Amino acid sequence: MAQDVAAVVLAAGKGTRFRSDLAKVLHRAAGRTLVHHVLEALRPLDLGQVLVVVGHQADAVTAEVQAADLPGIGTVLQAEQRGTGHAVEVALPALEAGIERVLVLPGDTPLLTAGTLERLVAASDGGRAAMLTAELGDPTGYGRVVRDDVGSVVRVVEERDATVEQRAIPEVNAGMYVLPRGPLETAIGELDDDNAQGELYLTDVVEILHRAGQQAAPVVVAEREIAGVNDRRQLADTAAELRRRHLDHLMVEVGVSVLDPVTTHVDVDVEVARDAVLLPGTLLDQGTRIGERAVVGPNSHLSACVVEADATVHSTRGEGAVIGPHAQVGPFAHLRTGTHLGARTKVGAYAETKNARIGDGTKIPHLAYVGDATVGTGVNVSCGVITVNYDGRTKSHTTIEDGAFVGCDTMLIAPVTIGTGAYTAAGSTITDDVPAGALAIARSRQTVKEGWRARREAEDQG
Ligand code: UD1
Ligand code: CA
Repeated sequence: MAQDVAAVVLAAGKGTRFRSDLAKVLHRAAGRTLVHHVLEALRPLDLGQVLVVVGHQADAVTAEVQAADLPGIGTVLQAEQRGTGHAVEVALPALEAGIERVLVLPGDTPLLTAGTLERLVAASDGGRAAMLTAELGDPTGYGRVVRDDVGSVVRVVEERDATVEQRAIPEVNAGMYVLPRGPLETAIGELDDDNAQGELYLTDVVEILHRAGQQAAPVVVAEREIAGVNDRRQLADTAAELRRRHLDHLMVEVGVSVLDPVTTHVDVDVEVARDAVLLPGTLLDQGTRIGERAVVGPNSHLSACVVEADATVHSTRGEGAVIGPHAQVGPFAHLRTGTHLGARTKVGAYAETKNARIGDGTKIPHLAYVGDATVGTGVNVSCGVITVNYDGRTKSHTTIEDGAFVGCDTMLIAPVTIGTGAYTAAGSTITDDVPAGALAIARSRQTVKEGWRARREAEDQG
């Protein structure tokens, strides 16, 4: 659509106000890093080129940018961070031949939407400069937009350089502009660092263009959208807003029931299908997918899990688990990585599974550990069963074949196989394979001492 436009995303700064060892743009809001949110807002624009300026923790930020996998994306290194104007200066030589307009964006504005960027780009049609502004109740921290008598944008004044009167201006600079390439290249060459921060301010380009008779067309937007995340409180606020937007989409456009949106945290890339129900206290992390009519919660936390249609997942922690159609999980189950539950399975209270394939219709209703195991269809894993998979050195595998019945409190000392339809007696410690159809009893016989209590009491008195 706009192949003559290149985006330059500024993501080289440290983010001092975050007080973090991690670069600011790598912090996550609703499952995505801040810089990834900005790149997703750019994706639908289908621009000719996208350049991300990296500097602080450049390798990690580059890896994150590459993972976003946008067409025409690349990074430019700003080794020393000498201001937003300097960041753009570093990017200019990397622009490709057909680029005529440059869309500059900060890397810390995750609420930005593609629609707003499209409006901004449209305002620059015909090669004029355009900039995004917003009127804020509290403009603290932002650059203020100075207009003349007829309303043209004259320049942007940073808060630290502003007079008292200028600080009272409610219209702020979003830090997002579309600038014609040639005039931008000229203006960047004229920047100086004669300001409170001793930096090259990109904002001064607005004034330089105005003096050359090319004032920027202001595009005014809703204030929330342009919010830059400069500290952890703003991170929490924007994450809440992103989650709210995603829940609105799921409820209104997909048809998902969310009983309590405030306590239901769903990351932005989580897909939930029609007629699914999310009960209070549900946390669905990145990489999770919920099928039609599934009921999740209350109080379930699923990371990178797949829940198939009609399953229920009550008060459960899941990590990298697949839960089959019509399965019933919880309350109080822990499904760990590599768990794959078949259709109509049941995993109940205080059961833990890990690296386990559980066949259709199999039940693990309570108090069990099934790890490093292949369990067939229609198996009953009774209360208290443990796959003893670890001897302190290596992990070993347990196989339980179709239709087997593993009695209560059975210890399955892996590696071991329970054959098709075989039984183990309650309280058995199974060290050897059990053939199909057999019953294995592996426990000591009960001894009964008649009259034992009376004899002891007589001893105590005597
Ligand atoms: C900037 C604007 C301000 C605007 C605000 C909107 C300037 C001088 N000021 O201020 O008018 O209201 O954004 O959010 O442009 N960065 C680099 N290299 C650098 C410096 C910064 O890549 O040398 C990156 C940062 O990582 C960040 C972005 O540029 O993603 C903006 O920098 P930041 O320091 O947050 O600018 P603000 O003070 O917010
Ligand atoms: Ca900022």
